[in-house]
Amino acid sequence: MTHKLTPLIAGNWKMNGLVNELSQIETLCDALKNKTTPECDVLICPPVTLLSQMSAMCSEVLTGAQDCHVATSGAHTGDISAQMLADAGASYIIVGHSERRADHHETDGLVNAKAKSALDAGLVPIICVGETHAERLGALAITVVEQQLNGSVPDLEGRQVIVIAYEPVWAIGTGLVPDENDIKTMHAAIREWLINRFGDNGIAVRILYGGSLKPSNAKEILTIPHVNGGLIGGASLKADDLLGIINTIGA
Ligand code: PGA
Repeated sequence: MTHKLTPLIAGNWKMNGLVNELSQIETLCDALKNKTTPECDVLICPPVTLLSQMSAMCSEVLTGAQDCHVATSGAHTGDISAQMLADAGASYIIVGHSERRADHHETDGLVNAKAKSALDAGLVPIICVGETHAERLGALAITVVEQQLNGSVPDLEGRQVIVIAYEPVWAIGTGLVPDENDIKTMHAAIREWLINRFGDNGIAVRILYGGSLKPSNAKEILTIPHVNGGLIGGASLKADDLLGIINTIGA
């Protein structure tokens, strides 16, 4: 069963971007305001240093963060809570990105707690999952992703909303992408998992694809069933590239 969901095009700027790069957001705002682009939600997750400035630029570009601490406040030098990120203008938080799982040894349990703290602060967590190349070659991709979902996705209360991002680790920043059938099979498996866990509410959860998404492959990937948008790293840094991706929707 497929369900028409408004696509979410989410940019992850990672540790990139100084104040002068906000000009890219001006270009994006202009294009989105002129409604020359297809219907979709556009989100940019900049480094925290740019978050409040970017959030004030236009309502057409939603803003988010790339991580949060599990606590609301306290003695955690250098950390930032979900509540603070909401206060700075964020409406989404990426949690469990594979770079944080690898560089900061984040476990599924920690990712689950971060997603919960995002929800408690009224934000939408984008929960990232994805297999390594060795796991893909060993035919373990679906098993690994389901284990990550089991551990990383918190229970939901009331009208709380989550997003899942499927990002094969080996496709991130490499120019490699899985073949269309592998993306299709994985997204269908994630949808089935969501329905088993959340019943009918699992139908409305957006599942993003991430990993070397760019204007030249976006149309092919974003039209695969149960691909409800993209999480985009490198190609989100330039407004023209991101608009190139956005403009493939419905084209
Ligand atoms: P990429 O990164 O688009 O540069 O491959 C995607 C991501 O890490 O979210």
